[in-house]
Amino acid sequence: MNQAKDYVGQTVKIGAWVTNKRSSGKIAFLQLRDGKAYFQGIVVKADVNEETFELAKGLTQESSVFVTGVVQEDTRSKLGYELLVKDIELIGESHEYPITPKEHGTDFLMDHRHLWLRSTKQHAIMEIRNAIIYASYEFFDKNGFIKFDSPILSGNAAEDSTELFETDYFGEPAFLTQSGQLYLEAGAMAFGRVFDFGPVFRAEKSKTRRHLTEFWMMDAEYLYLTHDESLDLQEAYVKALIQGVLDRAPHALETLERDTELLKKYISEAFKRITYDEAIDLLQAHENDEDTDYEHLEHGDDFGSPHETWISNHFGVPTFVINYPTEIKAFYMKPVPGNESRVLCADLLAPEGYGEVIGGSERETDYDKLLDRIKSNGLNPDDYAFYLDLRKFGSVPHSGFGLGLERMVTFVAGTKHIREAIPFPRLLNRIYP
Ligand code: 4AD
Ligand code: MG
Repeated sequence: MNQAKDYVGQTVKIGAWVTNKRSSGKIAFLQLRDGKAYFQGIVVKADVNEETFELAKGLTQESSVFVTGVVQEDTRSKLGYELLVKDIELIGESHEYPITPKEHGTDFLMDHRHLWLRSTKQHAIMEIRNAIIYASYEFFDKNGFIKFDSPILSGNAAEDSTELFETDYFGEPAFLTQSGQLYLEAGAMAFGRVFDFGPVFRAEKSKTRRHLTEFWMMDAEYLYLTHDESLDLQEAYVKALIQGVLDRAPHALETLERDTELLKKYISEAFKRITYDEAIDLLQAHENDEDTDYEHLEHGDDFGSPHETWISNHFGVPTFVINYPTEIKAFYMKPVPGNESRVLCADLLAPEGYGEVIGGSERETDYDKLLDRIKSNGLNPDDYAFYLDLRKFGSVPHSGFGLGLERMVTFVAGTKHIREAIPFPRLLNRIYP
């Protein structure tokens, strides 16, 4: 039915589900969905045989049917079209569908995630997710990247060894990957510009609206760009993703009542860039303001989500915070020239409280310095022999970043909780369904 405009006045047969229904003695209004669109079917008693009208009146929520009818314009509906039904064939009856039009609690909906996905809001969020994935492949292709798939099972920690999910690999410990980055760096030395896109895992005990234990990451790795040029690339990428959703999923944004003027503003205005230390100064200067609600931070402390939210809201556009303290960032980042206590990295903070959507950095290229960092971080150099090798055989300056797909989806869709941004969320307290 999403192609309805090409079929106005024609008779079509569509496989659909009944989401709701209302009927009087002479007419029945069926709310239908066919997987692509939500639309109305009108059954006029005088127009159909008696059996069909009785069937229409008795249809239960989520029963599947073939409906045959004439497509006509309907300016009152979002889709703009409806179906004047002539015939109905029941395919599969539905009994006591648990998600009724009344309000349900989140736990109940999460327990029924396999069915909840059929609802208009969840459908719209998944369409936005799809549009972002599509735009991502398109962006990387246009910019000379090839897709280079990193493994999911790994013998080492890409980020922080405390967040690993461990499994048994034929008697040896193995871990579910936290990021494809280290392997992508090998790819960059072979292909120049590479990206990956796949599930990553973090055994984070964070129960927040921004954390999943399994999420999808787009990592990219590339050579020779300066730190600023690297941020230019990331900025162009995020703008291309937002534009991709505006182009490809406008109905979904409308269903979610997302403020598209704001999205357009994020595309047309330059993202803000400030250093970590400037951000701390700013937070300290505003910590006693009436409308602020975050804890005092010293230079060297990491941000919590209230700080991230405040910073990006302060600027009203996505904001890169650059050059964080070496101590609170991963072992592979290159120090700022002349200042070993800060690293050449950036987190991109989305406005409106959506938090960090990208983490990226320039990588350490020197063998000895990298080895020192691996050791001082309490990691075993043997586990990183392949990674160290990349610094032995023609090491070149390179940088990369990782974007959390579900963070990006919540931001563009304007949904408050990350659990709705992935078909089947894995959370601290949930691995079913
Ligand atoms: O900042 P992170 O940890 O960076 C890396 O993993 C780098 N290796 C990426 C790279 O340079 N190639 O994670 C990247 C992004 C974050 O900015 C955030 O958007 C998302 O992944 N993310 C999460 N999303 C959902 N749930 C979680 N628990 C997440 N942890 C990180
Ligand atoms: Mg990060």
